[in-house]
Amino acid sequence: MSTSSFPTSAVVFALITLPFCAPDTFKAAVYEHAVILPSETEIPVSQDDALILMNKNIDILETAIKQAAGQGAQIIVTPEDALYGWKFTRESIFPYLEDIPDPKVNWIPCQDPQRFGHSPVQKRLSCLAKSNSIYVVANIGDKKKCNARDSKCPSNGYYQYNTNVVYNSEGKLVARYHKYHLYSEPQFDAPDKPELVTFKTTFGTFGIFTCFDILFHDPAVTLVEDHQVDTILFPTAWMNVLPFLTAIEFHSAWAMGMRVNLLAANTHKVGQNMTGNL
Ligand SMILES: *[C@@H]1O[C@H](CO)[C@@H](O)[C@H](O)[C@H]1NC(C)=O
Repeated sequence: MSTSSFPTSAVVFALITLPFCAPDTFKAAVYEHAVILPSETEIPVSQDDALILMNKNIDILETAIKQAAGQGAQIIVTPEDALYGWKFTRESIFPYLEDIPDPKVNWIPCQDPQRFGHSPVQKRLSCLAKSNSIYVVANIGDKKKCNARDSKCPSNGYYQYNTNVVYNSEGKLVARYHKYHLYSEPQFDAPDKPELVTFKTTFGTFGIFTCFDILFHDPAVTLVEDHQVDTILFPTAWMNVLPFLTAIEFHSAWAMGMRVNLLAANTHKVGQNMTGNL
């Protein structure tokens, strides 16, 4: 459990200049979150207990979101696995998952939380975006029913995805990205092919991917080269590894090399060498 000696996590603000659109700057926040982890067990907890843990983490994110919005940030990025940590089996992650629809359904979970079944996490994140008038980028788990006619359908009848979601300042779901390059995550499935997810705002065009994805050509490089994004949103649970793979070093080098803004939000877990936002 993550109890000892964490410094108070800080909200880090960066002013970012977008060369090609007006207004030509925007204010963004990235939050390095010390995740409250579940107790270590492979026995699945109830959906209610899973929600209790996720809500404890969201309580902390809520404080960060309010602070960020209060200081004029238009978007805040929170880390990968920020609501429940990373150590799961397919069975033990299941109670944490919700069905996350394609953003083209045009959904504000805060206003219509029952539309796609049990969605308390999506509802709460959407309401935080809406009530604070800020874009909220979060990482949660998606489940998608499949059946035996699909030969790749997992034995529990669901695909399970490590998923980034973005809610706009009205609380509407505007982006959903399923992580492609999983890193020791037996609890999740990769989508069939890399997803190229972008969305436009009044303050720029954004692309999104997750953690280990940054080490591969697709979707990361293709998003920047072929989709005219100004900024990449990058939730991560990045373990710093010397000499070349520490978070700030590697992520800033990638942003410079690709000539794009990168908003990286890492988890804060010093004992596992997970620190560093930019
Ligand atoms: C963290 O990094 C240090 C220095 O590179 C290394 O000695 C240690 O084994 C790492 N810890 C973990 C949990 O990987």
